[in-house]
Amino acid sequence: MSSYHPQDQTLAQLPSPSAEEIAHSSRVIEYIVDKIQQQNGVIAFSEYMNHLLYAPGLGYYSAGLSKFGKQGDFVTAPEVSPLFGRSLANQCQQIFEQGGAPRILEFGAGSGKLCLQILEKLNRPLDYYILDLSADLQQRQQALLREKLSFEVFDRIVWLDKLPQSFDGIVIGNEVLDAMPVSLLKKTEQWRELGVGFDGECFCWRDYADDGEAVKQIQIIDDALGPLPEGYLTEINLNYRPWFQAIADASNQVVILLVDYGYEQAEYYRAERSRGTLLCHYHHRAHDDALVLPGLQDVTASVDFDAVADAAVTSGFKIAGLVSQAHFLLQNDLLKEADFGYLDEDTFAQLDLAQQIKTLTLPDEMGERFKVIGLVKNLDLDLPALQPRGS
Ligand SMILES: C[S@@+](CC[C@H](N)C(=O)[O-])C[C@H]1O[C@@H](n2cnc3c(N)ncnc32)[C@H](O)[C@@H]1O
Repeated sequence: MSSYHPQDQTLAQLPSPSAEEIAHSSRVIEYIVDKIQQQNGVIAFSEYMNHLLYAPGLGYYSAGLSKFGKQGDFVTAPEVSPLFGRSLANQCQQIFEQGGAPRILEFGAGSGKLCLQILEKLNRPLDYYILDLSADLQQRQQALLREKLSFEVFDRIVWLDKLPQSFDGIVIGNEVLDAMPVSLLKKTEQWRELGVGFDGECFCWRDYADDGEAVKQIQIIDDALGPLPEGYLTEINLNYRPWFQAIADASNQVVILLVDYGYEQAEYYRAERSRGTLLCHYHHRAHDDALVLPGLQDVTASVDFDAVADAAVTSGFKIAGLVSQAHFLLQNDLLKEADFGYLDEDTFAQLDLAQQIKTLTLPDEMGERFKVIGLVKNLDLDLPALQPRGS
């Protein structure tokens, strides 16, 4: 009989992986255990999360698993409805009309649906760049877009494996920030960073280091908003700053539009949120144990929008606004986009569309939990959809 392991409780509540999935997960475990052994038995949680999601050919986003939509693990806004991309396209059009260079760079394009929706709505060939860490997803995006778009439009899409040396235009990213690896921190008298080890059977939590950058940052937040209680577990994302700096270095005039779920800092680091915001998805079940099902489940953390804004401003951007997804989409003519004449006779299609609008905009669905932040460099723009009501 095998010994009881704390992870068994989480696993008991999740669907059982197939034999093929178990074999894949074993390869991911082997890969990460090797990294742990090379570093004397412990790696930072951020490194663990990076391997889990992006290890070449193995990580959750890099291997050939079906992730998005009903057959996958979770549903993102472009998978919910084409109205999402069409509304975002309206925002892009407004920026182009005010002098933004007619060019889009999409980070983390997932299945490719957002790109499809934007290009279909804009309805003209446009330079469209896609930068995704996952080679597998790049192939899927190419297959979808080649099939659905005219040759002239498809021909202007360029897949990149790093930021171009210079880019002016619009940068977009839906649910990209939440997929960036975070550092995990716990307060026990002092703040310490958590790492991951291997106990011979499963991954397990270990202390990592005491004086890293993540510890410094959480201490500043604790001093400003706390004191946070003993035992408090949370995350810091150290990727925002280098990411914005890299975009700033490559651009002269640029607008960045990022959609994601998260909070402003006071809400993120609320005393009651004492278990942090790590969220794992496996076959549409959500839980917070990032140590189970390595390589088979998505692992994310909510976005700290104040930290995003600080990182962007330090890198030379101005904040164009932070609003709820519902507000942003409705201001960008979501309801007009939904008014497809050809649906007049088709009651089922109308009901379906009504449900899509609800999912994108209702407060207890994606409407309030998801937010849109706009950041601008060297452009003077009037973007009402990024201004909160009444401002
Ligand atoms: C949750 S998925 C969202 C996919 C898609 N945007 C959607 O809404 O369906 C996260 C995506 O971000 C990509 N990603 C994460 N960090 C990235 C980075 N630093 N650069 C480019 N892509 C990244 C992943 O490969 C993945 O495609």
